[in-house]
Amino acid sequence: MSESKYREIAREIEKLIEIGHYEEGSKLPTHRALASEYETTAVTIAKAYKLLAEQGHIESFVGRGSFVKNTSYLKQVIHSDQAENEWNFSILQPCFSRHLDALYRQFGQCASEPFTPSLFGYIEDTGSLAHKESGMKWMQHYGLQVRSPEQVLLTNGAQHALSTLIELYSKPGDYVAVEELTYPGILSIIQALGRKPIGVEMDECGMLPNRLHEICLSDRPSLVIVVPSHQNPTASTMPIERRKDIASVIQKHSVWLLEDDLYCFLNADVMAPISNFVPEKSFYITSLSKAISPGLRCGFVKAPQSQLNRLTSYIRTMIWHISPIGFDVASRLIQSGSAFELAEGQKKIAAHRQQLALSILQGETLFSQETSYHIWLMLPETWDADEFTAIAKERGITVSEGHFFHYDGQPIPAVRLSLMAISEDQHLIAGLQALKSLLDQRRSS
Ligand SMILES: Cc1ncc(COP(=O)(O)O)c(C=O)c1O
Repeated sequence: MSESKYREIAREIEKLIEIGHYEEGSKLPTHRALASEYETTAVTIAKAYKLLAEQGHIESFVGRGSFVKNTSYLKQVIHSDQAENEWNFSILQPCFSRHLDALYRQFGQCASEPFTPSLFGYIEDTGSLAHKESGMKWMQHYGLQVRSPEQVLLTNGAQHALSTLIELYSKPGDYVAVEELTYPGILSIIQALGRKPIGVEMDECGMLPNRLHEICLSDRPSLVIVVPSHQNPTASTMPIERRKDIASVIQKHSVWLLEDDLYCFLNADVMAPISNFVPEKSFYITSLSKAISPGLRCGFVKAPQSQLNRLTSYIRTMIWHISPIGFDVASRLIQSGSAFELAEGQKKIAAHRQQLALSILQGETLFSQETSYHIWLMLPETWDADEFTAIAKERGITVSEGHFFHYDGQPIPAVRLSLMAISEDQHLIAGLQALKSLLDQRRSS
């Protein structure tokens, strides 16, 4: 078989993907099936698939096959549609039904005030100083050391902060070190920007500092991304000693840290973030999405003093500035103290729902904390994660499947359950019971 044969086949498959013959996210034929179609060997097809994967058209997973790359990858993990008789355990957002009144009140007040040019016109910088001050207050309340509001940057949610920082502080082809199981939104950005994720092993306290040290030596990542509180998906929170140890590794290798601490308000006590121990090498990211509303798109970044100009001018180049209207509502909530009350209210709902879930899922192996929004549920050996997720979906139960959280997409016998997207407790209980009986189905048969 000539060297160019596999390239020819790869080009043909690429065209078939372009015209939609192979749809986004669909599974490609096996090596053997395609080999007989193209009258060649399975080895040649494997080489064609490898080339297509390198070019970013497809993704291959050990044991699961090759798939046309899905640009809407996140859509598969997080499903926002929710019919009345269904249970959506896939979306990690606050339980709005409990605090909508407070939000509407604040929006109403904003709308009833006289016209303010700073809300409706172009503004200086990437956001107003008053809104940065509110961001500073929010972050300080949960333990971050910030000296002045000028150190705070405003972004369209944490996702925008993450994509901006990954783009600015790494180059295509660079490694980005992440927890081996992590939030798929981080993996999506890394892949979309042509960087390579490298997973750092974890234990019940999160990322292992000695493994991070070894990876810094062997793969020289440009960035390290850590979710230190109520980690998505494992729900682990790094104790203070672990935070200090991670900070030492960051310092030692002079690598940039992105500390994504959206769930800090769920910690039992205020905890110093890792960034406090390495302020000149870290970007601390948070947002109001989990405590108040993802619709506000209010994200805050505390950047090292040395990086402020670079980051500000990049954000300005890319988006000019954030929409001040959502930040104004957020700012009023923070300055009046009601943002903290709403966050505390959500934490109480989470605590109550964890108790409900733990009693219904008794006997299952799962990971969560008293006030986590979610549960990382290990599936019994009798269940394959793909199949479990598909059958659950047929029964109206939407869960987020394990492999989406693995840095390399490897199959993981677990699913993530968010306990907060379902608004009524009774409906949540019925959903958990339905889930439990599905888990048990394979045990009794
Ligand atoms: C760890 C983590 N970071 C970032 C985000 C995105 O947050 P935002 O809505 O602020 O963009 C999420 C959302 O689930 C998340 O879990």
